[in-house]
Amino acid sequence: MSELTPEKLVQLEEEQEKKDEQNPRAATLANQIIASLNILWTKLHQYHWYVKGPNFITLHKKFEELYDGVTDWYDEIAENLLAMGEKPASTTAKNSKYSLIKEDEADKYRSSAEMVANIVKDFRTLSHTALKAIELAEKENEVVLADTLTTFKGFLDKEIWMLQAYLGKDAKDE
Ligand SMILES: [Fe+2]
Repeated sequence: MSELTPEKLVQLEEEQEKKDEQNPRAATLANQIIASLNILWTKLHQYHWYVKGPNFITLHKKFEELYDGVTDWYDEIAENLLAMGEKPASTTAKNSKYSLIKEDEADKYRSSAEMVANIVKDFRTLSHTALKAIELAEKENEVVLADTLTTFKGFLDKEIWMLQAYLGKDAKDE
């Protein structure tokens, strides 16, 4: 019997990924969340470094707190997928391919309020995707993933509320 090479295994994985694109499972959406968190980690560093103005100290610290939170969830959700026998994204190429969050070189020059509003938008994207993934996970009886993503969604929604309050808005305001 012929042994499967690492390259052949990757090819098989990519065939599964194509099927998942047509018919997403909870794990497919959770993998998009992981890829997004990887990109968001870099984006939060960009904001941490380049934010300017009278609120520098507050936001510099807040963005650091957020990328630390993102790091924890990135690992937690990925390990949850591994425990399910799934293959979370583990290269920069795959993270860029599956991320739901976009980065922008020009963001470094934006106002501190625009940076905060961008992070609210990104957290909302993740919160919405987490909700869809939770619904699928419940249908698939993936109760641990549903539970992890529910706690993750709680983290996001609380941060959205605080960042919106910083902007003088209520949690659900545009
Ligand atoms: Fe720092």
